[in-house]
Amino acid sequence: MEPIYLDHAATTPMHPAVIEKMSETMKEIYGNPSSIHQFGRRARAILDENRRYIAGTIGADEKELYFTSGGTEADNLALIGVALANQKKGKHIITTKIEHHANLHAAEHLESLGFELTYLPVSEAGYVTPADVEKHLRDETILVSIMMINNEVGAIQPIKEIAELLKDHQAYLHTDAVQAYGLIKINVKALGIDLMSASAHKLNGPKGVGFLYAGQEIKFNALQHGGNQERLKRPGTESLPGIVGMRTAIQQIEADNYKNFNQYKSYRDLFYQELKQSDIDFTVNGVFDELAPTILNLSFANTKVEPMLMSLDLEGIAVSSGSACTAGSIEPSHVLTAMYGADHPRTSNSIRFSFGSTNNEKQVIDAASRVIKVVKRLAGK
Ligand SMILES: Cc1ncc(COP(=O)(O)O)c(C=O)c1O
Repeated sequence: MEPIYLDHAATTPMHPAVIEKMSETMKEIYGNPSSIHQFGRRARAILDENRRYIAGTIGADEKELYFTSGGTEADNLALIGVALANQKKGKHIITTKIEHHANLHAAEHLESLGFELTYLPVSEAGYVTPADVEKHLRDETILVSIMMINNEVGAIQPIKEIAELLKDHQAYLHTDAVQAYGLIKINVKALGIDLMSASAHKLNGPKGVGFLYAGQEIKFNALQHGGNQERLKRPGTESLPGIVGMRTAIQQIEADNYKNFNQYKSYRDLFYQELKQSDIDFTVNGVFDELAPTILNLSFANTKVEPMLMSLDLEGIAVSSGSACTAGSIEPSHVLTAMYGADHPRTSNSIRFSFGSTNNEKQVIDAASRVIKVVKRLAGK
């Protein structure tokens, strides 16, 4: 039985061009970009060129890009870095209940340092409203952090509208675009974003590398202390192969004009239609027509996450749920809890299917039939 990977929102395999470029860099470019000799200068030139290219993909200047070890570090640098640098202007920060833990746990850490956090609710469809942001905004709010695409249900947040209402306010706008960068074309200036996090491994790049975009006027502190790299905001010898890999990954997408969006959407739609034509009971968490095309979070009546994940795994289907497995017990997803309320059946019977580069139509149809079989068995049909 062919294993089928429907967990691209968790991570993606590297594009062959990425592997090739990275191997080449690992073999040939081993100088430290901070060294002044020719080996260092060569590495520096490649680093600078990659920074310029990646910054250009989001309409930013190269001086506005800080390479990090991934999305988690970029989120931490944005939240904690901004909070520490701007606390004289206020100690209030707004975020949402549906952020990734990279954001939520950084926010909790800030609470322990005496910052006041507001966690915005979301509608049943999974959206934050600009009106809610406005309602909770205070004179002393220094940061609003709202993700672009939610990683569990795929809800796309109204970032442009939120940026608009923050225009004349001191608060910076940060967005975690880890699920969006490489899927939709982003222009940080046109959207009015002050800080943005991205991660290479969600777009067929390598794991352990990402970036934080921060506009030139944005004040934030470094969280590590060391050398002068990344304009003193993120010390440590740069992972040149990783950065080259990230650049190669986004370069493939740019060259293809973001056609991956439509391709992944066609897989998701096909999967959905196959399920619809069967007689299993399911509902979409979120509003189907408005979701990011990579993610489909489905609630299956009369099933439970744990046996479902195990049975799907036995059938060769790799998927996820937002539920965290802590010490052997399953904790309901914080995102579905925010959307539907604690103890709602959807929080414990939902599965995330996420589509991407490893899929093809035949495989998606095959996956749907295996899912239907498992659901029928577990729901006692
Ligand atoms: C929305 C979101 N933010 C942040 C992260 C963390 O990124 P990384 O794995 O690169 O640290 C993820 C990864 O799952 C994510 O989906």
